[in-house]
Amino acid sequence: MADARNTLDEGERLSEDALRARQLERLRASLRHAYAGVPFYREAFDKAGVHPDDCRELGDLARFPFTGKADLRAHYPYGIFAVPRERVRRIHASSGTTGRPTVVGYTDADLSLWADLVARSIRAAGGRPGDTVHVAYGYGLFTGGLGAHYGAERLGCTVIPASGGMTSRQVQLIQDLEPRVIMVTPSYMLTLLDEFERQGVDPRATSLRVGIFGAEPWTERMRQEIEQRFAIDAVDVYGLSEVIGPGVAQECVETKDGLHIWEDHFYPEVVDPITGEVLPDGEEGELVFTSLTKEAMPVVRYRTRDLTRLLPGTARVFRRMAKVTGRSDDMVILRGVNLFPTQIEEIVLRTPAVAPHFQLRLTREGRLDALTIRAEARRDAAPADRDTAARAIAAAVKDGIGVSAAVEIVDPESLERSVGKIRRIVDLRPRE
Ligand code: DLL
Repeated sequence: MADARNTLDEGERLSEDALRARQLERLRASLRHAYAGVPFYREAFDKAGVHPDDCRELGDLARFPFTGKADLRAHYPYGIFAVPRERVRRIHASSGTTGRPTVVGYTDADLSLWADLVARSIRAAGGRPGDTVHVAYGYGLFTGGLGAHYGAERLGCTVIPASGGMTSRQVQLIQDLEPRVIMVTPSYMLTLLDEFERQGVDPRATSLRVGIFGAEPWTERMRQEIEQRFAIDAVDVYGLSEVIGPGVAQECVETKDGLHIWEDHFYPEVVDPITGEVLPDGEEGELVFTSLTKEAMPVVRYRTRDLTRLLPGTARVFRRMAKVTGRSDDMVILRGVNLFPTQIEEIVLRTPAVAPHFQLRLTREGRLDALTIRAEARRDAAPADRDTAARAIAAAVKDGIGVSAAVEIVDPESLERSVGKIRRIVDLRPRE
């Protein structure tokens, strides 16, 4: 830990007062930049009757209008950029799991900032210059691969740009090239686990010591599962393309207590998802970000749809966000009860005889929605264990969440595996 402290960068060493002062100064400049450079923001501010000069303290941000995914889509592809197109050095796009993708752009300075913040993230996760880093996030329009890549290089690591897919080759590369750090979605890490076992290689005996997992929600139970099966430290990384990509927030390996938001560059708020009212730290709501230093595509109060809480800093001066519960789009409303896949993950993973692979199938029976949880049996599970597991999961869902679900324990390796972000929900309900 002393080692980690010595290598903190200038932003990480700020006092809280200095951090707040820096945020305010940057916020004012960023609002001015958005207002001057993007007609959409100018119109939105004018309509709301606010001007960048009205932001005199951090709390004044609440007077500014929100930006949503629909606003970015309406100005597809380049209408939301604040710099001339020639200054945009790279394009990425959001994964489009919830509709048409949104295009995002970066100037040279944005790309450099992003690399710095991913380097900061890898260091917080326990990576060091000289480490070899296996990047199995997808390369391409998705920000995961290239974002991780340039950050690892910036830190002074050796990068293996494996990208996603070709799972048997990934196992080979890990064995031959001996990376110490892996960056991948947690669901694809489980796919790799199966492949290690299929090839008869002990996953605990590899060179891997640190896993930096993100791009989708995952739970404390999943952390335990991955840490035990691979003998590594598993930490969470969060980000989204609209804000920059991976490296918006990162969990520190020494505390593993939620993700420190790099709030010297991204100002977080948590709001009531329905009323939009800013909630006090500690209360769960929708995470909203305002970029403080981005050039090509500043965002003002961008609604992430991710649900979490803001918590005080621990290993860093920056506030933390709790592990994301889920996206508001992934919330299932079943007979009036709200349910997230992460809640089912917690239950499935603590059930003996069941593997960490599951799917939620939604159907309609008459006028009522029905949920079937499909979970895979572990290879060594006896038929009787499966019945016990099915009953245990159904009971835990009923007691813990308050809904009735059918549970099917299916054969090992029968559910679809992830190569990137996993889709937990299979919605078979007829379209309205
Ligand atoms: O997923 C960026 C990323 C790449 C983050 C690699 C971490 C690692 P998008 O494709 O734009 O960008 O998707 C962003 O993914 O709003 C969340 O819903 C979800 N997400 C990302 N990280 C986490 C996480 C990348 N650690 C959307 N926990 C976000 C939960 C996450 N959800």
